[in-house]
Amino acid sequence: MITVIGSINMDIVVETTVFPKQGETVFGQGFHTVPGGKGANQAVAVARLGSHVHMVGALGQDAFGNELRTILQQEKIDDTFVRTTETATGIANITLFDNDNRIIVVPGANADVSRESIDAARTLIAKSDLVVMQLEIPQDTVEYALSVCEELHTRVLLNPAPAENFKAEWMERVAYFTPNETECADIFGVDVESALERFPNQLIVTLGADGARYYDGTQHVFVKGFKTKAVDTTGAGDTFNGALAHALTTNQSLSEAVEFANVAASLSVEKFGAQGGMPQQEAVLKRLGGAQ
Ligand code: RIB
Repeated sequence: MITVIGSINMDIVVETTVFPKQGETVFGQGFHTVPGGKGANQAVAVARLGSHVHMVGALGQDAFGNELRTILQQEKIDDTFVRTTETATGIANITLFDNDNRIIVVPGANADVSRESIDAARTLIAKSDLVVMQLEIPQDTVEYALSVCEELHTRVLLNPAPAENFKAEWMERVAYFTPNETECADIFGVDVESALERFPNQLIVTLGADGARYYDGTQHVFVKGFKTKAVDTTGAGDTFNGALAHALTTNQSLSEAVEFANVAASLSVEKFGAQGGMPQQEAVLKRLGGAQ
């Protein structure tokens, strides 16, 4: 069983072929509100792959909050520890332009995920095979959750996004750490090879469509991504992390788990929205079978 502690957002998405200059107004081609938030996305990725998953988070008492809670339940994510607070539900303003995205997150209720939220979920954390976290909730809460997981001997997969909230000393408390190349450089201030060699089988650096890499203690391991035509890359990293968590808690080796996560991420980018393309397990196995 996996517990995801993290953000839940409504993604407010605008598609445009022209990115406005400062002070300029342009016409866009599409507008959508779709479920997102790195925490919720990772929980959905885990659930669709068939693992039992609980979410610890917070939503506002508003239309977005109600809609997002219903979606969590429809995805069979246990929302017992998703509090409803007085603050507005978190949103992400996403601009899709030139086959990529730009995201501004307004945390709202995600800022209410607190030490109390973690304490309330202690029994759940103790029973979990893995806790998955990102950095869209308060830094103090992540730090506290890490200490609780350490005390309860529960392993943590930490996806350091956005990277600015990460503290280097946390590395001692995480079993798996999954920055992308930019986040890895920002956090460690050295080249990727040197960072990987410091954290064998613990640091897994994602390379977008190219896949992911880690150091196994003897050699550098590159796990190639599955090439596909991307419709929307939003949530690809979250799919990778959710799938990695699922695979690591279902007896896959690290290299198998990274390959499984790469394939899940490749499927996720083929449809619109952070959660829109997140695959069921059968789809991943089918593509994995074809890839071998
Ligand atoms: O990783 C993608 C997610 O980042 C989006 O769903 C958005 O909500 C932001 O949290």
